[in-house]
Amino acid sequence: MGKVAILGSYVVDLASLVDRLPIPGETLLGSRFMIGPGGKGSNQAIAAGRLGSEVFMIGRVGNDFFGQMAIDNFRREGINIDHVAIDPISETGTAQILVGQDSENMIVVVPGANSKVEIEHVNNARAVIQGTDIFLTQFELGMKTVEYGIETAFNLKKLVIVNPAPAQPLTREIFPLVSIMTPNETELQSLTNMPVDEIEQVEKAAKALRNLGVDQVVVTLGRKGALLVNESTVQHSVGLSVNAVDTTGAGDAFNGGLVTALAEGKHIKEAIVFANKVAALSVQRHGTAPSMPLRSEVESLDHISNK
Ligand code: RIB
Ligand code: NA
Repeated sequence: MGKVAILGSYVVDLASLVDRLPIPGETLLGSRFMIGPGGKGSNQAIAAGRLGSEVFMIGRVGNDFFGQMAIDNFRREGINIDHVAIDPISETGTAQILVGQDSENMIVVVPGANSKVEIEHVNNARAVIQGTDIFLTQFELGMKTVEYGIETAFNLKKLVIVNPAPAQPLTREIFPLVSIMTPNETELQSLTNMPVDEIEQVEKAAKALRNLGVDQVVVTLGRKGALLVNESTVQHSVGLSVNAVDTTGAGDAFNGGLVTALAEGKHIKEAIVFANKVAALSVQRHGTAPSMPLRSEVESLDHISNK
């Protein structure tokens, strides 16, 4: 069992299913409403936990109903929350999500307590980071805190994995501290200012990211799988073809799978194959964290595909 420290967000996902997305001023009747745990940090933590990692979460929720729901959920999932604090003032982060047909969506995230995770809280979690194999973070907390977390983990000689989502600028000096970065196409474009419409362009942009100092780049390509670019290879690992009902959180599933496999000592190429399977299972169910598969489900998929 690998140990993973995750510095990241929790937000409650408030999702409505609608036939089409509304226009300003319009009221629509939706067909279904769901409240569930979300936020990229928490989603990745839950995915990794269900896949068999020992997960240590570093984050913050509000002193309110949604915050209590978050804490209860982390406990149920067996995630260590010694460093998930309850902020006395700010509200728990929220995401209002509208999912229309063909899984097109609109999301408004209000970070709330997530923006109160400070450098001192990362310092308080130093021993936890020290005790794990992998450090994983995303761009849903304040960037000063995220960058400090990356520096801390790098100085502790940890494998640093960064999922640069949602897209935000990163200080130049931070790139060389990152062992593996996992952007999707949009995030890759925003980090490099390069076009990503064709796979050749994606490859070029990923190489540009390596030139900024990132050791290995894994670009997630949705149903097309993922592209690995490192010192020795460029390898496209195709995705599994499945019937997607809700792709929200698929990137989180992928990252949770990737870190779990790497923390167990698997090679990066094997880890990507594993992560693709995790993402493929998650998009076949509604919701983000609730749709993360168990290890046994990924393994029964192996059983089927080996026949
Ligand atoms: O990556 C998906 C997540 O992004 C959702 O759970 C939503 O909370 C947003 O933060
Ligand atoms: Na899903």
